[in-house]
Amino acid sequence: MKKNITVLSGDGIGPEIVAEAIKVLNKVADKFGHEFEYTYVDIGGCAIDKYGVPITEEGMEKCKSADSVLLGAVGGPKWDSCPPAIRPEKALLAVRKELGLFANLRPTKLFPQLADASPLKQSIVGNGIDLLIVRELTGGVYFGEKKTEEVNGELVATDIMPYSEHEIERIGRVAFETAMKRGKRLASVDKANVLDTSRLWRKTMHRIADDYPEVELSDILVDNTAMQLIKNPTQFDVLVTENMFGDILSDEASMLTGSIGMMPSASLSSTTLGMYEPIHGSAPDIAGMNIANPIGTILSAAMMLRYSFDMMDEADAIEAAVNKALDDGYRTGDIMQEGCKKCLCSEMGDVIVSNI
Ligand code: IPM
Ligand code: MG
Repeated sequence: MKKNITVLSGDGIGPEIVAEAIKVLNKVADKFGHEFEYTYVDIGGCAIDKYGVPITEEGMEKCKSADSVLLGAVGGPKWDSCPPAIRPEKALLAVRKELGLFANLRPTKLFPQLADASPLKQSIVGNGIDLLIVRELTGGVYFGEKKTEEVNGELVATDIMPYSEHEIERIGRVAFETAMKRGKRLASVDKANVLDTSRLWRKTMHRIADDYPEVELSDILVDNTAMQLIKNPTQFDVLVTENMFGDILSDEASMLTGSIGMMPSASLSSTTLGMYEPIHGSAPDIAGMNIANPIGTILSAAMMLRYSFDMMDEADAIEAAVNKALDDGYRTGDIMQEGCKKCLCSEMGDVIVSNI
């Protein structure tokens, strides 16, 4: 199969980790007889420096016309003082919105080889953590009206958090369908004791639940979820939640696995076009040093093969290769353990490539 992939390497460690994922994709193409063509587009701070905007219209078109998009990370202290309209993050939000990427899947899996890296006690981690956060990605407070105005002699800032029924229903259906393919348990996370958006969320989730009788649906408040993720993380299978709750909870969940550098994500639309990225940021403090962990990006490339290209064996091959690298004791600095082989970002990529 021939596929066009638009590559947004971005800032900081973005280019280093994306280069490793591309090495892996090329090996998969070789081995399984596919052709992957890459179009590179600047995004984030590097685009601000070159063009004065975090993504150009032409760049956006190249994302829309691709078969899928691979992203590294955007942002860094250099661009922190940019006006809100041209901040690096703005480009990320614009791509999500313009490509209609409403469903963000963030799997949180503790690899058994890294059990010691989890900050939680063995008694809590049990036989391993394997949960999936389904985050709504194009609605809520991220995209509602924003303003800062002067009222009675002082500044007042407002961010509106709107959700319509159809937005809730479509993310709900993705979550139920994903739960059907996993442990058939879905926790819907909200703040229905306070927010109207959450009350509509809850009502909608229960309405569509009738279509998925095999899935056990439960409601859980977001503050309690934050606590339960630490207290008893293995109780969860799939969690579904709105945009900002999902942002916060997915960072929390990622830590359970020892390193945020391990975590991939997929942002899906109603077509096969998706964007795939590690959930970590651009880590400017280690940029250019070839010491970042490329596994989150490599596993994101595996998700691309599975969700956008329907290449299941190929995705499995990447995941098995990552697993073997960990089994064989290869570790980047962030997951280094005694007795293991410390390797650079590019060395980790090479090991994974040779395992495929
Ligand atoms: C994420 C990030 C983004 C978000 C930022 C960079 C805008 O934190 O993907 O989780 O808040 O969605
Ligand atoms: Mg985040």
